[in-house]
Amino acid sequence: MKKRLGIITVGGDCSGLNSAIRAAAIRAETLGHELLGIQRGFFGLFPESFGYIQLTSENCGEELLTSSGSILFSDTKSFTTCLNHGHSQKEILQLVYDGYRKLSLDGLIYIGGDGSLTILEEVLSHNPDLMNVVAIPKTIDNDVNMTDFSIGFSTAVEVVVDAISNIRSTARSHQRTIVVEVMGRDAGFIAVHAGVAAGADVILVPEFEYDMSRVVDKVKRNYDSGKKYCIIVVAEAVESASLKHRIVNSHDDVTKYRGIGQHIADHLKTEGFESRAVTLGHVQRGGTTAILDRILGSAFGAEAINALVAGEHGVMLCYRGGKIEKASISELMRGINKRLDESDMCVKIAVNLGVYIGELSGS
Ligand code: F6P
Repeated sequence: MKKRLGIITVGGDCSGLNSAIRAAAIRAETLGHELLGIQRGFFGLFPESFGYIQLTSENCGEELLTSSGSILFSDTKSFTTCLNHGHSQKEILQLVYDGYRKLSLDGLIYIGGDGSLTILEEVLSHNPDLMNVVAIPKTIDNDVNMTDFSIGFSTAVEVVVDAISNIRSTARSHQRTIVVEVMGRDAGFIAVHAGVAAGADVILVPEFEYDMSRVVDKVKRNYDSGKKYCIIVVAEAVESASLKHRIVNSHDDVTKYRGIGQHIADHLKTEGFESRAVTLGHVQRGGTTAILDRILGSAFGAEAINALVAGEHGVMLCYRGGKIEKASISELMRGINKRLDESDMCVKIAVNLGVYIGELSGS
């Protein structure tokens, strides 16, 4: 029987979302099912602000493989907006269930990151049988549990690596130290992967404490050895005893990070090194979609349709050891978010190549 399925992107955007949407549209059409693209995240699902388009192979062409952002738009504030307008948490969940029912959906593909998956878990835990959901992990931070990679991470890493190669030429010409601050929230995956791939001299991540005097030593060694410039990559959530830079925005309760890169550059100036800081910011959320994100998006989009058609739901698709697997959403949310540890391949590369990456137990 023909099914009516939906697909929605929730939370911060990234590159690779459109590859997943395209693959889902093609797979649904091939199997004879209908796919609605819900627009603006949960706003498009709430009956009072419905918004959706019919997705087909015609309006989901190959150009979606490379384009960043989401053709369905995204949403990071529907729940807080509703709370601010006086709706209770229970009423908001009811709006979601009502929207799903009024659209006569038989299943929903939910593309979300760590924060939006937590919201999904909340939605499903109250009424697990009201909605058939298959989730797809996306986030440039790569901090979703149980999947090696999430959509968007590889493109973000490539954007950072490209930026560092531009920064390197000016650092070398001016014999400066340049500190590059990257995103990632509380996880250092972007920093360590991009730092290793771009040949950074120092990589600082939230998972490992760092000692400023060892950063200074490393910079000094670069100048003494004749290299005479230095590239430092620092993840936005890295803490310093003398800098309180986490700001929780009271409006939407979201933590923002400000200024660790500048803080480190300022310190290095006091040590006599000409230093600059560059914060890459939201540049990391765009960019021509990296090949792994195109492949991952395509695999996840098509497999999500297969799963819903086969009657599976309450699961998130994961990429593990080169295969697409499934994890139960409730089980997934029980564990802590994924974080770097000393066994990570890129951490080991950094150590083996003499990059200072913080105070590791073996260092
Ligand atoms: O979670 C993805 C992410 O890009 C983080 O790396 C970053 O801290 C945050 O979102 C930025 O959020 P916003 O777009 O709301 O400023």
